[in-house]
Amino acid sequence: MPKLNVNNKSYVVNADPDTPLLWVLREELRLTGTKFGCGGGHCGACTVHVNGEAVRSCQLRIDDVYDSYITTIEGLSPGVDHPLQRAWIEHQVPQCGYCQSGQIMQAAAFLRRNANPTDEEIESAMRGNLCRCMTYHRINLAIKSVADSPDIQDV
Ligand code: FES
Ligand code: FES
Repeated sequence: MPKLNVNNKSYVVNADPDTPLLWVLREELRLTGTKFGCGGGHCGACTVHVNGEAVRSCQLRIDDVYDSYITTIEGLSPGVDHPLQRAWIEHQVPQCGYCQSGQIMQAAAFLRRNANPTDEEIESAMRGNLCRCMTYHRINLAIKSVADSPDIQDV
């Protein structure tokens, strides 16, 4: 049986090879912090990390990620105290909250590559993550606050 590495745990998965990673995370592993939005790679609600890169889990076949290291919002920080999660609370970013796991996962991977981004770089990196509640301004503020703080070392 193939095994899936998610949040530093190994899971035996029984799914058709073409099953999207998103559905295995949600339906088999019950990691429901990762959301289904469009199912077509357009909204970013399903963003997780695969080998440290932000990817759309609705677009990945489970058979293609068995040898990868996958992180979901549940595994981003064991204490739910990742600098971005703290900044999201401080800036009261979420409205309905549906898109926010994907937003945070996208931002975390981005800041790991670029610890001191410009406003334009933040906007460009986050452009593919949609929010129907229009929280974009607070998202950008929260990311900027982490980028400007000593917490960036922990991202
Ligand atoms: S649900 Fe995957 S990008 Fe929208
Ligand atoms: S907070 Fe509602 S969709 Fe983004």
